[in-house]
Amino acid sequence: MTADASEPLAQIGVVGMAVMGSNLARNFASKGHTVAIYNRSPEKTRAVINEYGHEGTFIAAETIEDFVASLQRPRKAVIMVQAGAATDAVIEQLADAMEDGDIIIDGGNALFTDTIRREREMAKRNRHFVGAGISGGEEGALRGPSIMPGGPVESWETLGPLLEDIAAKVDGTPCVTHIGPDGAGHFVKMVHNGIEYADMQVIGEAYHLLRYAAGLAPAEIADIFTEWNKGDLDSYLIEITAEVLRQVDARTGKPFIDIIVDAAGQKGTGRWTVKEALDLGVPTTAIGEAVFARALSSALAQREAASEAELPAGELSTLEALGVDKPAFIDDVRRALYASKLVAYAQGFDEINAGSAEHNWDIKPGDLARIWRGGCIIRAKFLDRITEAYENDPNLPSLLLDPYFTGELQKGLVDAWRRVVVVATQLGLPVPVFASSLSYYDSLRAKRLPAALIQGQRDFFGAHTYRRVDMEGTFHTTWSGEREELSY
Ligand code: ATR
Repeated sequence: MTADASEPLAQIGVVGMAVMGSNLARNFASKGHTVAIYNRSPEKTRAVINEYGHEGTFIAAETIEDFVASLQRPRKAVIMVQAGAATDAVIEQLADAMEDGDIIIDGGNALFTDTIRREREMAKRNRHFVGAGISGGEEGALRGPSIMPGGPVESWETLGPLLEDIAAKVDGTPCVTHIGPDGAGHFVKMVHNGIEYADMQVIGEAYHLLRYAAGLAPAEIADIFTEWNKGDLDSYLIEITAEVLRQVDARTGKPFIDIIVDAAGQKGTGRWTVKEALDLGVPTTAIGEAVFARALSSALAQREAASEAELPAGELSTLEALGVDKPAFIDDVRRALYASKLVAYAQGFDEINAGSAEHNWDIKPGDLARIWRGGCIIRAKFLDRITEAYENDPNLPSLLLDPYFTGELQKGLVDAWRRVVVVATQLGLPVPVFASSLSYYDSLRAKRLPAALIQGQRDFFGAHTYRRVDMEGTFHTTWSGEREELSY
């Protein structure tokens, strides 16, 4: 039903009636809230009323001024339009029509530095600006997403209960919390998406090995993923992987997976996660390899040229020739997937902790694991364990060092991981995240790294100095002269 637009009734408003915006508006309405809706092109607003008006109480506005006038104070408007210039344009229009203390929420995938800038600009005009990461896709927006709001803590006090109403619930706990000031919410959403890239890639690598090393058909692999989904790997992504692999193409009768062009797209949040990790100096190798794997898959002309040139593969083996037992290999792949996924999450949390320290956000990593347990794409049983890990020690230096996860690694996980990387290499099958995560793991636990040699080289060619293991201070050796050691 629609309310009379002259009455200031709506508890919340949504700008942008494309799929995400209209689903979010319907979610608010289904929880009993009166929702003001507005879209630049009024046809979309009318279409929402025609199709879904019966689901709750909507106030459809055809101008931004009417939209703002229909909101209860402090006014709260969620923007769900294209990121970038469109978002800036709508923020300006809302800010002009709003008054002191009103709250503008950007629910899109904005770059967190844009959010910081926007929050500053809005604060100067006494408007509250909340950059909120929303995960869960179309279905999540409608039925309950995981929400990561940043912005001023005062706005959380009025906005929080509304967001708690529409968020996914796990064991009765809403998957939303105030992440921290200004850009904290969008930063965390960015890294969430980066982790999602790595999670999808490790699942892809496992599939690829089961298909091309173990020689299983997609439907058989679907059954294996369904089985894995009952254990430690229980997650939304594993569940939908089984669905995709079981699908048969209606046109050709072939497995659906085989008719899809193997070039993965990306919208940019994975890339942002890696760029930011580089600036922060955090080795998010799993996320980086996942982003690069998508880039390589999409370099179709280069891949075609390489395939036509028949680049040498070296001497390749087969599973049989290697004497590898197939059922044992399949279980090893499961363990390698679990271990690599653990590294990806550990690195993602490292980046969040580093970002939080850099920007003074005071983000609580355990809270994030808790709100990612439902609604979002990376929701998984595994996140209960991560929540517990940070509850036990909020200052955990790495997730890999949590006693539960260390215990998991001790249960034969590492040996399986090594075997899988060796077999993949011998068969010439690419496993960028499995392999790089294992190298990261070995680097992290190493007593000595070749970085000592790099320091020696740097001192040799550029007098960049080095520190000694046995005394304090900074040193340089006069390499081109007498090779005396100078201390600074
Ligand atoms: P989705 O991916 O969910 O389809 P999107 O492409 O991210 O959506 O964003 C589309 C929305 O942004 C639409 O509501 C669009 O409005 P129109 O229906 O009028 O095209 C809105 N949008 C894009 N540019 C805009 C702008 N400059 N001002 C206001 N709204 C804009």
